[in-house]
Order: sequence, then structure tokens, then C-alpha cells
Amino acid sequence: MCGIVAYIGQREAYPIVLKGLKRLEYRGYDSAGVALLNGNGLKVYKKKGKVAELEDHLSGKDVGSHVAIGHTRWATHGEPSDRNSHPHSSGNGKLAMIHNGIIENYSLLKQELLKKGHVFNSDTDTEVLIHFIEEIQSSNQCGLEEALRIALKRVVGAYVIVLVDEDNPDTLIAARKGSPLVIGVGKGEHFLASDASPIVEYTKEVVFVNDYEIAIIKADELILKNISNERQTPYIQKLDIELAAIEKSGYDHFMLKEIFEQPQTIFDSLRGRLDAKSGTLTLGGIREHAAILSQAKRIIIVACGTSWHAGLVAEYMIEELCRVPVEVEYASEFRYRNPVVGEGDVIIAVSQSGETADTLVAIESAKQKGAIILGVCNVVGSSIARLSHAGAYTHAGPEIGVASTKAFTAQLAVLCMIGLKVAQEKGTITQQRFQHLLDELDAISEKVATTLKLNDQVKQIADKYKDARDFLYLGRGYNFPVALEGALKLKEISYIHAEGYPAAEMKHGPIALVDENLPVVFVATRDSYYEKVVSNIQEIKARKGKVIAVVTEGDQTIPGMADDVIEVPAADELIAPILSVIPLQLLAYHIGVLKGFDVDKPRNLAKSVTVE
Ligand code: F6R
Repeated sequence: MCGIVAYIGQREAYPIVLKGLKRLEYRGYDSAGVALLNGNGLKVYKKKGKVAELEDHLSGKDVGSHVAIGHTRWATHGEPSDRNSHPHSSGNGKLAMIHNGIIENYSLLKQELLKKGHVFNSDTDTEVLIHFIEEIQSSNQCGLEEALRIALKRVVGAYVIVLVDEDNPDTLIAARKGSPLVIGVGKGEHFLASDASPIVEYTKEVVFVNDYEIAIIKADELILKNISNERQTPYIQKLDIELAAIEKSGYDHFMLKEIFEQPQTIFDSLRGRLDAKSGTLTLGGIREHAAILSQAKRIIIVACGTSWHAGLVAEYMIEELCRVPVEVEYASEFRYRNPVVGEGDVIIAVSQSGETADTLVAIESAKQKGAIILGVCNVVGSSIARLSHAGAYTHAGPEIGVASTKAFTAQLAVLCMIGLKVAQEKGTITQQRFQHLLDELDAISEKVATTLKLNDQVKQIADKYKDARDFLYLGRGYNFPVALEGALKLKEISYIHAEGYPAAEMKHGPIALVDENLPVVFVATRDSYYEKVVSNIQEIKARKGKVIAVVTEGDQTIPGMADDVIEVPAADELIAPILSVIPLQLLAYHIGVLKGFDVDKPRNLAKSVTVE
């Protein structure tokens, strides 16, 4: 949510920052801006709209500079507009700042500053913060670093900020609390960004800045301090991402690329962990906590959005395999409702980005209360991963399309392995079932590749139904969360109203919506609920609804009832969601594209929701 990028070094800074903003655009695209510092002083350019509009606006202008900061915005305080775009400047125009996060007490600070004569040109919390820093600088007669430290002690909220100062053109100053900041360490140059994607092209050596740290960055020096002004040793890590992983590689959209990457990403999530031949499963990240996990009185899964849907599938899996109560919580509700949680509870935080603010805060408070936290994250080194006691990365590679696809299936694979491991430790699974599920997981990547061959067929179905006003998605058991996920994908990408429901629950309300204009997508693969779902399909047909059914290959019954049938390979019901979700991802994708929408950047959304 909001992308920040900055450069200091010997190269031309603007092209690096611009390219970085394009890579970070998935985090927000309401407006974009840059501040460039050169011998002629500090210049700030900003524009409502996508990064391309900023690029047009700057074409032909003097953008020469070796120090630059840039921002792509997802609006929180103040509508998307030129004046609310970042960077924001201090009253004297000497400082410029970019910010990702929310300053919660900005209104109070603004009142104080207004009384002191400050004039604001935007509605943002960010502009208040830069004026506040400037005010401290002048009233305390101190340098920028000291003023920032004092200011941050009064700030309530989350932030990553980066500042440039016309009077100190060889230094960038950055600070972090609650939002991500990565610093790339090059030879005589440094790169700053919200994630590694703008950096990986130039250097693989990075430092993940921690909360309450301030970084003072020159071309050839990186100083880290904590908020009490004590030096910290920067921990340089090596990135394991290739440039190709963050480019479209010939696909029209990142979303389609990521859907088609799934055979490989699921394989990667299993690799080195699952060995079906020898019947072994090794999850290095939870090994030390396996005993604690197996003694958990209760497992609580916290997540948001698509990750929450993966959590719901995991609830079914883990309860069945491990015979332990599992609850699945929306992180945003869990964090505020003073839940009963403490020692003996295991929290599994599921998050693609590892930065979702609600999930992060939810686990922080559960950790303080004594719960063990297990992170299932995709982004290596992310805040949730670092806050967790133990965990397992999903290894799906960078997910750039705003609608989550490959992260979901990798989460399912990893959560299934966690369930199997705990079940083995507890002795709640027979050796035969354990081996069967290992074999099923081992075969799943191939089956995903087979399922992707349905792309053309799904595109035709998309064309047939693209003008529908509403959609209903129904499923039972393991396929109920898949129905929710299918509906979410369609809403996000095509702006069609869609609801996911447990197929049987439909009779208690949503059936009133059914008529000849309503497409109803049934996730009806062959499982222990199959016969019941067949009855639910008949209930829809009796009311003239249009049925699109995702079924298991060779199904003899449903094709005779449904208007359109999509056949996926057979799989154990525990892992069938990995297959049955794929046609739904493709359906949403094609409807979005056929309707002419930018599926990689759907309106109002951002990939990484780092504000609550
Ligand atoms: C849906 C989507 C969102 C995310 C949610 C959680 O396509 O992408 O619903 O799943 O914002 O994000 P993470 O998994 O990064 O915590």
C-alpha cells in the first residue's frame, strides 16, 4: 500500500526511481511523484494517476540528478489529486518526503502547527509530518536527523519515510515503523524501496530495516540507528530473486503469468520438503516447534482476503488430520475484539506479502499474550515472517498482479504439509493415509498443468457470461472456501457483484436471487459432499439459474444438468481446492480482460495492505 523508492549514488537517479515505481505500482496507483536533488536544488514533480502519467509529465524536463526519491500512492488521507501526491515539501521548500503508512495523530499535530503559522497545501497526514519535522528543526535549532528522532517519538501510527534535504544533498534519511523498507547495498550506491523488486536488477545485497530504526544513507555509507540514537549493525542478506521473476515474460498481464506459473510455484513450495518415495516430510522452519504444535490446545488462523480463504481450507484440513480445534479469524476483527488467547494456543498467520497491517498487529498482540506464532508467508524477510516464532515460506516467487493467485495455491500446499506434519507428530493419521496424501501432493503440480489446458474453454465461458450483473459461487466442504475465493477474484478483476456461499446455506436466503439471468458457479468436484451438491444444482436449475460447474474428470451426472461444465483432474478432497480454484482464477481473469479492465491494477485496490 503505497510504494516508495529512492536512490543515491553515481548513476542517473531518475530512470532508476521511475523504473522502481513501475515495479511497485501494484502497491497503489492513485498518483505518483518524484523529488530530484541536483546542483540547482530540490525539484518536486507529481501527478494524479499512474506512473506513466508522471513519466509523460516529466518528458523533456531536466531530470538530471544522482539523488532522488519517488512514490506511488494508494490514497488514505485526501482524494487522489496532484496536490495530495507525494513527495510533500516542508514550508521552506528545503525538505521533501515520501511516506507509506498512516500518521494517526496527524490532526492533533496539524492543529498545533496551524497555530504556529504553518500553511498546508494538501489534505495528507504526510505533509503534516514534514512540517512537524521542520518545526522541530527550527525551534530546537537541530539537524534533520535529530529533528526526525524527536518527531517520531510523538508520532502515532505506521510509517516508512524517506527524506531529502537541499542543504545536505549527499544524504538520504529514512525511518521505519510498521511498514516495510529494504535497502539495497551497491558499490558506492544505495537503493531504497518498499520491497526488493526495484532493487534486484542492481544488487542482491540488502538490509531489511527494522521497526524504530533510522537509516542515514550516503552513496558509500549506511548508518543504522535505533530511536534512542544507538548505532545498530546493518545485517546484510543475499536476495534469492531473479529479474525474470518480476517481469511479464511475454504474458499480457502479470495475473495470467502468475496463474500459469502455478505448476512450478506449487512444485517449489513442496521442493526439499516432501519426498513421497521415502515417505518423508521435512519442514525445517517448524522442526523445533513441532512438539509445541502437536500439543496445541487450539490453533487460530489469522489472515485477510485470499489468505483468509486459504486459512479456511486449512481449518478443514487440520481439524480432519490433527483432531485439534481450529478457528479462522479475519485479522482485522481478531486484533480489536480482545480475543481470549494465550499460552497453549498456536496462531498461524497466513500472508502473501507478510506485511498486511491487520495480520501483523493481530500476531503482535497474540505473541505478547504468550501464543506461539507460525508464519506462512511468501515474501522472505517480511515483517510477519520475522515476528513469527517459526514458519514455512510458500516460495511462490514475487506475486505482482494485485489479485492473488499463485500465492493461494502455494499457501494450500504449505498448510497441508503443516497439517500432515502435526498429524504425524500427534499420531492422528495412519501411515497409509499419510503416504496417500504425500503421493497426492507429489502429483498435484502435474495436475495443475493439465488444468491450465482448460484456458481456452474457460475463455469461451467467460465470453458467454461477461455481461451478467451478478454471480453466485457455491461449494461445500473443502470447496466452500474455493467458492468464496472465486467470487472474490471476480469482484476484484471485473467489478461484477459476486457472492460466495456454502451450497446448502443458499436455501436460507441467496436462492431468492436466482432467475434465468443469474450465473451460478458450482465447485462440485467428486468428494464426500458430492451427492448433496448435485441436489443443490437441481435446486438452482429448478429456478432457471444458469449453472457453470467445475467437476471431476469423467463426471457422468452433473454434465446432464449444468449449462457449462469444466472438468479438472481427480484429487483427494483435501487438496482438490488447489485444482478447482484454477478455472475460477481464469474465469475472473478473462471476464476482466473482455470487459476492458486493467486486471493487474484493479481500481481502488493495492497489493499490500499496510494500513488498517
Ligand atoms: C485478493 C487479495 C487480497 C489479499 C489480502 C491479504 O486477491 O490479494 O485479498 O489476499 O489483502 O494479503 P496478504 O496475503 O499479503 O496478507
